[in-house]
Amino acid sequence: MAPTMAITTNTEPSTVTEFVINKGFGVKGLSEAGLRSLPTQYIHPLEERIISSVNNQVMFGRSIPIIDMSNWDDPKMADSICDAAEKWGFFQIVNHGVPLEVLENVQVATHRFFALPAEEKNMYSKENSASNSVRYGTSFTPQAERALEWKDYLSLFYVSDDEASALWPSACKDEALEYMKKTDIVIKRLLDVLMKRLNVTKLNDEKENLLMGSKRINLNFYPICPNPDLTVGVGRHSDVSTLTILLQDEIGGLYVRVEEDDNWVHVPPIKGSLVINIGDALQIMSNGRYKSVEHRVAANGNSDRISVPIFVNPRPSDLIAPFREMLANGEKALYKQVLYSDYVKHFFRKAHDGKQTVDFAKI
Ligand code: OGA
Ligand code: NI
Repeated sequence: MAPTMAITTNTEPSTVTEFVINKGFGVKGLSEAGLRSLPTQYIHPLEERIISSVNNQVMFGRSIPIIDMSNWDDPKMADSICDAAEKWGFFQIVNHGVPLEVLENVQVATHRFFALPAEEKNMYSKENSASNSVRYGTSFTPQAERALEWKDYLSLFYVSDDEASALWPSACKDEALEYMKKTDIVIKRLLDVLMKRLNVTKLNDEKENLLMGSKRINLNFYPICPNPDLTVGVGRHSDVSTLTILLQDEIGGLYVRVEEDDNWVHVPPIKGSLVINIGDALQIMSNGRYKSVEHRVAANGNSDRISVPIFVNPRPSDLIAPFREMLANGEKALYKQVLYSDYVKHFFRKAHDGKQTVDFAKI
C-alpha cells in the first residue's frame, strides 16, 4: 500500500490520481497527508469558485423557506410547500416526524464508513465492487471532468432490503436503511401535497412508482481542504431526481441559485431539519411548474463536512414526460418523453454543468 507520506504539494498529477482514485485514498487521504496547497487538478476556473465571504447572501436577509410540518392537515402547510417548490425549488422542513436519533445514527455511520482504511473502502470502487448498487468514489465523474471536486462518496442504490443486507457495507447499512425507511412517509406526504396543486389527484401505484419507484442514498464526505477558495465540494448542478431529501451536518456550505438576480443563498444548517429540493424529473413531469434549481457546495478549510442525500427517483425503465393533467387545458408541453435511464446516463456522462442536463428533454 502506498504510504500516505508519499504525497506532497509537489507530487506529479498522475501520482495524485493514482493515490486518490486508483488506490482509493480519496480526497480524504489527500487531506490527511497534510498538503499545504491544492493539487492542480482540483483548481477550478475563477467563475466557478465559491468564495464563501462573497457568496453568502445572508446579508440580504434571504433564505430558502423553513416549513414546519407538525400539522399535516393545515392547508397553509400545503401551500407553503407548493409555493416553495414553484419559487425556490428548495426548502427546509422541521418537525417532520423523522426521529433525531435516526438522523444522528446515519451521520455516525457515515463517519464510521469513511474512517475505514482505504483498502477496505476501495473494495466498493467501480473496478472492485461486487454490485452496481454499491459504489465508493471520489469527485463526480473524474474521467469527464476538467477540474475535480473535493468530495468522496459512497452511493447506495436501493433495490430491496435483502439485497441491501447482503451487499451494503456493514459500517453503515443498518443506519442507512433505517434513515430511508423513516423518511418514506415524509416523502409520500410531500409528493401527495405537490401533486394536489397539479390536479394529479389519483396517486395510484403506477403514479407512485413513477414518482418514487427507486431510491439512491449517498454518503458524502468533504474533507478539510488546504485551499477551499480555489476549488468546490460539488460544482453547480441540479439533481436528476423527482425530489431529494438531504441531511447535512452543522458545518454548512450548501448554496442555492436564485435565478431572478443571479445570486446564491446559503442553506443554514438547522439541527434536526431536512433540506428538500425538487429534481429534474419532477420539473419535467410538472411541465416546468416546480423548479429543479442549481446548487453547489463549497469546500471548507477548517472542518470535515458530511451530508446524506436520498434521491427519490422514477425507476430506470420509466418513461417520464409532462403529466397529462398538466396539458389538459391546452398548455404546451415543454418537454418530450424520455426514458429515465437515458436521462441519468446523460447526467453522468458529463461534468457538473449547472442546469444543462434538462436540455436533454426539452422540446
Ligand atoms: C448532491 C448535493 C449537497 C450537499 O449530492 O447532489 O447537492 O450539501 N449535495 O452535500
Ligand atoms: Ni445535488
